[in-house]
Amino acid sequence: MELRGGRATRLVLGLALLCSALEAAPAGPQPLSAVGQFWHVSDLHLDPTYHVTPDRTKVCSSSKGANATDPGPFGDFLCDSPYELILSAFAFMKDSKQQVSFMIWTGDSPPHVPVKELSTKLVISIIGNMSSTIRNFFPDLQVFPALGNHDYWPQDQLPVTTSEVYNAVADFWKPWLTDEAINTFRKGGFYTQLFESSDSSQSLRIISLNTNLYYGPNSVTVNITDPANQFAWLEGILETSSEKKEKVYIIGHVPIGYLPYARNTTAIREHYNERLVKIFRKYSSVIAGQFFGHTHRDSIMVLLDEEEKPVNSLFVAPAVTPVKNVWQLESNNPGVRLYQYDLLDYSLLDLWQFYLDLRDANKKNESNWKLEYILTKAYGIEDLKPESLYEMAKQLSLPHSTLFERYYSNFIVSYDKTLVCEEGCKACQICAIQYLDYSSYTDCINREATWR
Ligand SMILES: *[C@@H]1O[C@H](CO)[C@@H](O)[C@H](O)[C@H]1NC(C)=O
Ligand SMILES: *[C@@H]1O[C@H](CO)[C@@H](O)[C@H](O)[C@H]1NC(C)=O
Ligand SMILES: *[C@@H]1O[C@H](CO)[C@@H](O)[C@H](O)[C@H]1NC(C)=O
Ligand SMILES: *[C@@H]1O[C@H](CO)[C@@H](O)[C@H](O)[C@H]1NC(C)=O
Ligand SMILES: *[C@@H]1O[C@H](CO)[C@@H](O)[C@H](O)[C@H]1NC(C)=O
Ligand SMILES: [Zn+2]
Ligand SMILES: [Zn+2]
Repeated sequence: MELRGGRATRLVLGLALLCSALEAAPAGPQPLSAVGQFWHVSDLHLDPTYHVTPDRTKVCSSSKGANATDPGPFGDFLCDSPYELILSAFAFMKDSKQQVSFMIWTGDSPPHVPVKELSTKLVISIIGNMSSTIRNFFPDLQVFPALGNHDYWPQDQLPVTTSEVYNAVADFWKPWLTDEAINTFRKGGFYTQLFESSDSSQSLRIISLNTNLYYGPNSVTVNITDPANQFAWLEGILETSSEKKEKVYIIGHVPIGYLPYARNTTAIREHYNERLVKIFRKYSSVIAGQFFGHTHRDSIMVLLDEEEKPVNSLFVAPAVTPVKNVWQLESNNPGVRLYQYDLLDYSLLDLWQFYLDLRDANKKNESNWKLEYILTKAYGIEDLKPESLYEMAKQLSLPHSTLFERYYSNFIVSYDKTLVCEEGCKACQICAIQYLDYSSYTDCINREATWR
């Protein structure tokens, strides 16, 4: 497999460096810069009604009465995931035999169907199903999950106090989480947990945020300054982490920053976004990475401080579900990804994006998951640290950048090579990558608009 080739190359390089270091350095333990890995999956969106049948309006509830376009065993671009597609994704990850330390799973298990077609009971059973499915494939793997806006009924209305859904999900996630994590999760749908690895002397703190509390359609949190006191809790955790010199990964469903496909639109409410950006700037030195889902597309962001210095790397992973609305031009092929990090400080080194060409899989009745790209190779950067991502963003911003064409094709997970993103479309993408707060984003959009 290509993937093993990649790891082998890294190891050989590492050994070569070690050997030359050994010649020069005095005897004693050498700080070997070894590589750790973890998986990231997001937006599984199981549609249990999916079945291939001649009447295409009846293939899946998630097509909402529209004719499925080209339904096959692994799904359709107008439908959420058949169970078969989800199985194929986890089977691929398992069969790849990648050595991973953990997996992050950033939410959204139920399908996109009208509210009345679901219920608290159904939503709980689907999240339970996905949790057991993951555990069946990876019985010994540490999983760090986060809740999505669809992981509630009615969708988006995640509450600021304990609820039937938080409690049921806490029970499903108990095998992965500590009692302390489970306690805060029952109250507000968020938690923190330390990941201690035998391969690293440094410990890593995972903070799983319930950013659904800040999501525009959540009417429960309208007028609440600090829903479920999550901001105060987050600042407290980050403060302690910096005192203890820990490293932190932030995981969540709805990302911070601006949507890359819409002009001047934050993913969460604007005032909550400003607050989070402020917190993340303040504690950027402890935060080694941030990971989200929700948009179903593949994008990066780089958080700049007030002096425009890059201080954080953020990643939005594409969905496993291929679903789109009937009026949308764009969708995404199903994707899962593998990150590589430095065992010494958890800084991010690379990511391997895998995908399933859905049309091809349906045609061949075979799920041939493949490597789509390796980030450092695709964009010619050293690693995934903030400085490198900022350098990449500058390259993408150049007029007629062919790298940007590549970025856009990856954004839609190779859904359609004929789709292009120029002018206004490109301006939104470019500004969303680099500017996460209102004032810098607005400057960018105005600048980009007068250019063209
Ligand atoms: C679905 O396709 C059938 C057969 O082509 C057509 O008669 C029907 O109007 C379509 N339904 C919708 C909702 O587009
Ligand atoms: C999950 O749901 C699928 C599809 O509805 C079903 O076939 C499968 O048995 C369920 N698995 C678990 C573990 O509940
Ligand atoms: C929020 O505050 C506004 C202004 O005070 C008020 O009109 C509105 O009813 C409040 N909404 C909720 C859901 O409390
Ligand atoms: C962007 O959106 C905000 C809030 O919706 C609005 O106040 C502002 O005028 C918009 N700015 C531009 C440049 O469109
Ligand atoms: C697709 O493959 C599955 C399992 O490999 C098999 O059971 C099924 O009959 C095949 N379907 C078609 C349409 O060939
Ligand atoms: Zn989703
Ligand atoms: Zn979502």
